[in-house]
This record gives sequence, C-alpha cells and structure tokens, in this order.
Amino acid sequence: MKITPIVEILTITITCISTVACRRNDPSILIIGAGPAGIAAAARLLEKGFRNLTILEAESRIGGRIRSVKFGDAFVDLGAQWCHGEEDNAVYDLVKDLDVLKPSGTSKKFYHSSGERIDDELSHQLFDIMDSVYSANGNRLVSDDLTVGDYCVRNYNRTLYQKYAHDKRKRELALITIEYFHHRVLSYEGSFSWFEPAARNDYRDCAGNLMLNWNGLGYKTVLEVLMKKFPNNSRALPIDDKLFLNKEVTKIRWKRKSVTVVCADGSIYLADHVIFTPSVGVLKEKAFTLFEPSLPDVKNQAIGNIGFGAVMKVALLFSKRWWREETGFSFIWSENDKWSVLRDLPDDPSWLGRSWVTYLYAVETAENNPNVLFGWFTGNFIPLIEQLPEKDLVDGIDYVLKKFLSRSYQIIKPNKIIRSQWYSNPRFRGVYSFQTVRCRRGKGDTSANILAAPLTNVEENRPVVQFAGEATHPYYFSTVHGAIETGYREADALINLYSKHA
Ligand SMILES: Cc1cc2nc3c(=O)[nH]c(=O)nc-3n(C[C@H](O)[C@H](O)[C@H](O)COP(=O)(O)OP(=O)(O)OC[C@H]3O[C@@H](n4cnc5c(N)ncnc54)[C@H](O)[C@@H]3O)c2cc1C
Ligand SMILES: *[C@@H]1O[C@H](CO)[C@@H](O)[C@H](O)[C@H]1NC(C)=O
Ligand SMILES: *[C@@H]1O[C@H](CO)[C@@H](O)[C@H](O)[C@H]1NC(C)=O
Ligand SMILES: *[C@@H]1O[C@H](CO)[C@@H](O)[C@H](O)[C@H]1NC(C)=O
Repeated sequence: MKITPIVEILTITITCISTVACRRNDPSILIIGAGPAGIAAAARLLEKGFRNLTILEAESRIGGRIRSVKFGDAFVDLGAQWCHGEEDNAVYDLVKDLDVLKPSGTSKKFYHSSGERIDDELSHQLFDIMDSVYSANGNRLVSDDLTVGDYCVRNYNRTLYQKYAHDKRKRELALITIEYFHHRVLSYEGSFSWFEPAARNDYRDCAGNLMLNWNGLGYKTVLEVLMKKFPNNSRALPIDDKLFLNKEVTKIRWKRKSVTVVCADGSIYLADHVIFTPSVGVLKEKAFTLFEPSLPDVKNQAIGNIGFGAVMKVALLFSKRWWREETGFSFIWSENDKWSVLRDLPDDPSWLGRSWVTYLYAVETAENNPNVLFGWFTGNFIPLIEQLPEKDLVDGIDYVLKKFLSRSYQIIKPNKIIRSQWYSNPRFRGVYSFQTVRCRRGKGDTSANILAAPLTNVEENRPVVQFAGEATHPYYFSTVHGAIETGYREADALINLYSKHA
C-alpha cells in the first residue's frame, strides 16, 4: 500500500492548518508600535526564525520616541538623546564596538536675568549641590509618600543654609536657583511638577558615563544596529517587509482564539499573539476604547497611577555661531525680572505671574553641529508652548537669549527652528514614565509589573496580548535601554513558549 503515507501527510497538513498545532511552529505575531521596544522584539523574533510577523505603526516613520532629524550639519534628536550608562545597558551593548558614542561636554555657564554671568566657582558649587541633592536616585531612604519635590526643596534649602551660612549674597542667589533646579529635575523625571514623582522609587542608574551622545549620528543609530543595517547593510533583517506605517490600531479584540486587531483605515488583522508597545500616555487616553473586552481593573489602576508628563526641546539653527567654547547656558531669573517679562510681552501667555518664556531654563550646544543650539523647556506650560505659533516661539526665545546673554554675546535670531510636540501628539501624549507616590502605595506588585503582565487566553493558558515598552520595565523605565529590554523580554517569552512545544 504505497499510497498510505501520502494520505497521512495530507491529513496531517490539513489538521495543522485548522488547529492550534501548526501555530506551534510558526505562530502569527503582531507587534503594535515601531519604537525601540517593538523593533527589538521584531529583531529577536526574526533572528530566532519566526516569520509570520507584522508590525503596525501609527506614525509615518519608525523610531517612536527616538526621532533623529537632519538639521544643520548633522542629526539632532527631538526625543531620546543620550545613552544613560555603560554596564547592563542594552543600548551600550549593541554599539560598544562601533565607536559611535562620545562623552558629552559639561562646560555650562550660569547667567542671571540681570545679564550678569555667575562665576565658575559658584556655578560649579550650585551644580554639585543640585546633583548631590537629586542623586542617590531610587535609593533615597525616605517614606513612600514623599515626592521628589518635597525631598529636593527640603535638602537643597538645608544644604544652602549650611554651606552659605555666612554669605548672604551667595545664599540668596542659590535660593532663587531652586527654580532652575526644579526645571532640571523635570527634565529627568518627565513630569509637569516635581511634586508628582515619588522620591523613593525603583529606577536604577547603569554604572558608567550617564551622558553618552551619538556625535551627530542620532539615536536612530541604535535602531539601525538592531535591524542589522548599521554599520553594514549586507545582512539586514527583513523588518521592512513586515512593517506597515500609517496604521493606527483602534481596536484589539482579545477574548477569542486569535486576536483581532482593527486599524483606523478599516483594515483588520488576525494574530495568535499581539505585542503592544505604545506609551502609558496612549494607554491613559485610549485603554478604555482600545481593548475589547476592557483591561482588568488592576491594569487600569496601574495605568492611572504611573506618571506621564512632558518636556520640550527646540533646535535652533543660526546663520553663524555667536557663542564660544561653552556647551550650554543655564538661566536664573530674579523675581523682579520675572514680573517685568509680563510688561515686556503683555500679549504672551502667562500663568500665575509667570510668562511662558521663563520656562526656557537652558540652552545647549549640539554635537558636530556648530551653528545649532537646543532650547529646553519643562513644566506645566508645555502643552501650550508646544502649540505656540512659530513666530511667537522664536520671538520669545530671542527675548530670553538677549535678556541673559546680550551683555556678553552678539545675539542673532535663528534662521530655522524645529520643535518637539510629544504631548500634543496622540501617539505619545508625553515623554517617559515615572513612579508617582500613588504607585508606591499598593502592597502588591509594582505598577510596571502589573502593566507588563500579559492578557491570557483562559482555555489554553497562553499569552494573547503582551505588553512591552519603557513603562513596563521594573527599573529601567523611562529609557531606551529599558524599552529594548522589554521588547526582548516579550519576544523571549514567545520563543520559550514555542520551544517547549516543539
Ligand atoms: C524628549 C525625550 C527625550 C528623551 N531622552 C532620552 C534619553 O536621553 N535617553 C534615553 O534612554 N531615553 C530617553 N527618552 C525616552 C525614550 O525615548 C523612550 O523611553 C523610548 O523611546 C520608549 O520606547 P518604546 O518602544 O517603549 O515606546 P515608543 O518609542 O513610544 O514606541 C511606541 C510606538 O507605538 C506607536 N503607536 C502609538 N499608538 C499607536 C497605535 N494606536 N497604533 C499603532 N502604533 C501606535 C508610536 O507611534 C510609537 O512609534 C526620551 C524621550 C523623549 C520623548
Ligand atoms: C500568518 O498568520 C495569519 C493569521 O494567523 C494567516 O492568515 C497567514 O496565512 C499567515 N501567513 C503565513 C505566510 O503563514
Ligand atoms: C529653609 O531653611 C531655613 C533655615 O533653616 C528656614 O528658615 C526656611 O523656612 C526654609 N525654607 C524652606 C522653603 O524650607
Ligand atoms: C559587509 O559584510 C559582508 C559579510 O559579512 C562582508 O563580506 C563585506 O565586506 C562587508 N562590507 C563592508 C563595507 O564592511
């Protein structure tokens, strides 16, 4: 009976098509979001031979909160900018042999709104005090109810009264520098106020240099390395074949055998597994309409508790470089000068006696980009500043640069600017997550771990929707290295699941 084996093979093939059994070899996996977490997951799955992969990205570009744009002579980063650390750092590990990361310059000058430069010795002291008060990140041995703001105000004040006990002039100047300190802390935390993040939290710094920059190549380089396009394109992973841009996911139906994903353009995808990577900002706004059925209560609570705010960067291109060797300027406003802005710019938006322009707390130079400066804004005014007409934005920045620096430099207006709009963009709704005091109250698992837990198909007890993305990392949240690790984590969970069955 020669024919039997063929019949058998046919039967096996047919059963395989119609049952779960065949998924065990090549399940269909759909990744939502092509930021670092999504790309890391895709790269790992492709390397392990998974082929039925689809990546849906709402924006018209990949990268997510990594956004490197050619501007002036090099790439500037409107999103992630520095590789924070060297040890146990997925970004550093990916590029360490490629000679692309460089330590960042630290020659920043403090200026007072009177136009006076604060001497180097006092500037260094102030930076040291701020750093020592703010550091010990995460390990601060304080009550879970204390915010970063409570902690910093208390300890900064105490330090100043000790250090400058007999020097009233320095103490007064240092005391008003607390506003600059607040803005700077917000750039680390990504919150709108320092009275939101918890002083004691799970964040960990990697050892090594915390401020490595991409020397004008842009943070996008790490994505190219992940996709094996850099430094050599010859063995690139076939991610482009799997990637669909301008595909905003609007519905994830997850209670059935396979997950159904619906996009804004009406297209529908079926998959055995979904890996969801959009930000907590997206989840805060859309989780209730996105998931059907809705997410479990604990997950919604975690999404509510995890903090998410915004910072804003504006890149400024000048026709010529008007500054010298310094790598940045930091601005300290006197009370009087803050009020005088309201007289000078009466039509500009203000809040509680502060014009929006006083939220520009520092400008910094850009690597390999001699005519470019970056303006930094933080605080609760960001949603409004992101939306200002370009002319108002340029005029306001010009006003501040002239007020602080025109005694020492020949300030000119920028020819061209480009700004970030992370809060306004519905694909992000902010910058990076932080632990609030509410995250610290629960007795059970941390908010990040609750967010990371997959939705499972009860009958088969297998994950159907998995969560990756920076906010799901237990201690490297808010970073690219954290995001990449979560992409690997969810890919590995599937790799392990199918290797067990194989
Ligand atoms: C201004 C700024 C500065 C930063 N600086 C640093 C830094 O110096 N160093 C550092 O390590 N980190 C920094 N970060 C943080 C870092 O960029 C993020 O932690 C990281 O990019 C998060 O990656 P992710 O993959 O988790 O999310 P994302 O990068 O947000 O990727 C998620 C993707 O999902 C897409 N998406 C959203 N909604 C949908 C939908 N409905 N359907 C389909 N797709 C959707 C988004 O468009 C996005 O591409 C910074 C971030 C910002 C904004
Ligand atoms: C991938 O999976 C989808 C959904 O399960 C299925 O419809 C499709 O035929 C698969 N594609 C390939 C090439 O196996
Ligand atoms: C700062 O410390 C001084 C001296 O101990 C005290 O008088 C003052 O109230 C403190 N201010 C704040 C804001 O804590
Ligand atoms: C790229 O890699 C391939 C294969 O590893 C190698 O043969 C080739 O020389 C490399 N090209 C460059 C420019 O390094």
